[in-house]
Amino acid sequence: MRVVLGVSGSVAAFRAADLARELMRQGAEVRVCLTDAAQKFVSVALFEALTGQPCLVDTFEEPNRGRMAHIDWARQADLVIVAPATANTVAKIAHGVGDDMLTTLVLASTKPLLIAPAMNPSMYTNEAFQEALRVLMARGAMVVEPAEGDVACGENGQGKLASIPAIVAAALDALQQSKMLAGKTVLITSGPTREALDDVRYLSNRSSGKMGAAVAQAALQLGAAKVRIVTGPASVVYPAQAEVAQVMSADEMLESARAWAPDSDLIIGVAAVADYRPQTRVRGKMRRSAEPLQLVLEPNPDIIAELARVAPKARVVGFAAEPTADLAVAREKLARKGLFAIAANDVSDTSIGFESGQNELSVVFADGRVHQTGRGSKLRCALSLLQAIGAD
Ligand SMILES: Cc1cc2nc3c(=O)[nH]c(=O)nc-3n(C[C@H](O)[C@H](O)[C@H](O)COP(=O)(O)O)c2cc1C
Repeated sequence: MRVVLGVSGSVAAFRAADLARELMRQGAEVRVCLTDAAQKFVSVALFEALTGQPCLVDTFEEPNRGRMAHIDWARQADLVIVAPATANTVAKIAHGVGDDMLTTLVLASTKPLLIAPAMNPSMYTNEAFQEALRVLMARGAMVVEPAEGDVACGENGQGKLASIPAIVAAALDALQQSKMLAGKTVLITSGPTREALDDVRYLSNRSSGKMGAAVAQAALQLGAAKVRIVTGPASVVYPAQAEVAQVMSADEMLESARAWAPDSDLIIGVAAVADYRPQTRVRGKMRRSAEPLQLVLEPNPDIIAELARVAPKARVVGFAAEPTADLAVAREKLARKGLFAIAANDVSDTSIGFESGQNELSVVFADGRVHQTGRGSKLRCALSLLQAIGAD
C-alpha cells in the first residue's frame, strides 16, 4: 500500500516523522510532500532519510523528467493523508486551490483523503475553518479530530494533533475501505428519464442525477475496478473515471443497462424511471385546441426488476423515493422485484432527496435487516449504503 503523507506548516509537523515511521511499520510505502511553511519546522532531509523516498515540495519539480510528479504520485497512492493539516491548507483543499505541490496533488487525487488538523483552539473553532472542514467531509474526506489539551501557544482547548495511533488506525481503516470493491464492476442507473409526448414536449421528473453521481464516486472511493453509469438527461457532472452512457427514455435506459448488467457485480438503480410513457408520440408539435386533452399512458418496463432477472449473481439494489417514512412499500417492492436490498428515502421531507445535496436512506435488505445511513451529504449516504451492501 502506498501512502502520500502531506505535511503542512504546523508546530506539530515534527510529529509527522513518527507518523511516517508507524505507517511504514504497518507495511505502507510512504512518500512525503511538504508545504513551504512545513519546511520552516521540519526538513526534506529528515523525511527522505526516514522513508527512503524522495520528498516532493515544488509543483514544478519532476523527479522523472517529463512526468508530472503531482499526477504520478496522485495516481500511484492508495491513500492521501494530510497530517498535520493547517487551517490554511484545509481551506485551500476545500476550495479547490492548487497553489503548491501538496494542494495540487490533493486536487489531482481520486483516492481517499484523510485529514488530521492541528492548530490553536481559536483557529480550530473559527467558523471559516469549520465550514471548510464540513465541505471536505461532505465530499467524503475522513477527519481525525484533534485532541484537547495544552497547545504550543499556551492555550488550552481542542487543537492538538490527534495521537499517532489514532491517525494510523484511521489510515488503515481508510485503506481497507478503499479496497472493499477491488476488482468489482458496478453498474448505476441515474437521473430521470424523459418520455416524449411530441418532438418538443416530454414527461419527466425532478431527479437531478446527484445521488447517482454520489454512488459512482463512492464506488470509486471504495476501489471498484469499473464504474458504469446509464444516465437520463441530468446536468450533474459524473466522475471522470466512470464510463457513462447517455439515454433519454426508460426503454433506452433498459437497453443500455441490460447490455452491461451480466458483467456487473453490483447494480444500483438510482434512476427515477418514469412509470408511464405516452402511448403514442406525436411527430412534430401537438397543437392547442379549446377541448380538454386526454393523454393515454402505458407502463414503462420495470428496469431494476429486469436487471435483477438478467444478472442473478449480482447484488441488485433499488431506490424507492416514497412520500412517507413508512418502509412497508419499500419492503413490498424489494420482494416483488427480487432485489438484494432497497434504499428508501422520504421525499415528503423537502430538505433531503430530489435536487438537494443531502439525503438520508433506510436500506432494507431481503433478509429483513434495516441499515440507516443517517442524514448527510449524498456522498456520505452513498458510502454508507455501499459499505452496508458489501461485496462477495
Ligand atoms: C510558530 C508557528 C506555528 C504555527 N502553527 C500552526 C498550526 O499548528 N496550525 C495552523 O493551522 N497554522 C499554524 N501556523 C500558521 C501557518 O504556518 C500559516 O498559516 C501558513 O501559511 C500555513 O501554510 P501551509 O498551509 O501551506 O503549510 C503557525 C505559524 C507559526 C509561525
